[in-house]
Amino acid sequence: MSTHRDAVHAQFDARAAAYLSSSVHSGGPDLHRACDLVAKLSPRPGSALDLGCGAGHLSFTLSPHVGTVVALDPSIGMLDQVRAESARRSLNNIETQCSSAEVLPFDNASFDLVATRYSAHHWTDLDTAMREIRRVLRPGGHLLVIDIEAPADALTDTHLQAIELLRDRSHVRDRSDAEWRALLRGIGVDVRVMERWGTRLEFAPWIARIHTPANKAEIIRAMLSEAPAEVRDALRVEADGSFHASTGLWWGQRV
Ligand SMILES: C[S@@+](CC[C@H](N)C(=O)[O-])C[C@H]1O[C@@H](n2cnc3c(N)ncnc32)[C@H](O)[C@@H]1O
Repeated sequence: MSTHRDAVHAQFDARAAAYLSSSVHSGGPDLHRACDLVAKLSPRPGSALDLGCGAGHLSFTLSPHVGTVVALDPSIGMLDQVRAESARRSLNNIETQCSSAEVLPFDNASFDLVATRYSAHHWTDLDTAMREIRRVLRPGGHLLVIDIEAPADALTDTHLQAIELLRDRSHVRDRSDAEWRALLRGIGVDVRVMERWGTRLEFAPWIARIHTPANKAEIIRAMLSEAPAEVRDALRVEADGSFHASTGLWWGQRV
């Protein structure tokens, strides 16, 4: 019987190149906003940690504005992409670390900035991960969380979580704004900025990126087309199954 960890490796080791070229991951207003927020920090952060770095887009964005970035991910395939692309872009201050957010192999207060983008919805033990973030983030340091935001409405939330899990068996849960605020408050991080953007997920590349089996892709299409009107409106479902999810950004400081 395979575990969630096996699912993460199966999903991401072989599909790492698709995440490097994915337009959802390589661009987007959230990445620009992350860049603005970090670039304005004074003094400049000496050390940053990117949790669930994937193919490295957030690490590449942070790199010019911090001393060093540690790009951490459990997937070796993703870390290989980060190393190759960092070398190609001559970003010499990015190091890689194979681990998970729940087990951070660093000393207390090692980082001025901890960041994570489109990864926390895969973490199985969010409470442990949050405690680890608090431990490695120095007092006064900054935390940046970017992820798909769970809809506040339960009906839409249930539909979104169901299709996410059908598409990607390493999905755990998207969290709502209220949940993120409580999680950050729980580790003594004061939220200073919360912003959200509609992110269009184009059906064919969204499915192809992670090799969702055809039978599951058909179920997702059926769920979207047969969803109640409130859900179809909230997710702005299109004829080919493309839809919009909300990307949320939470920026805070450890008090
Ligand atoms: C969608 S990709 C990341 C995208 C990337 N951060 C970006 O901005 O392009 C999600 C990543 O989360 C990683 N991941 C899954 N479970 C994790 C965990 N428990 N801790 C840290 N990373 C995890 C996966 O291996 C995968 O590389």
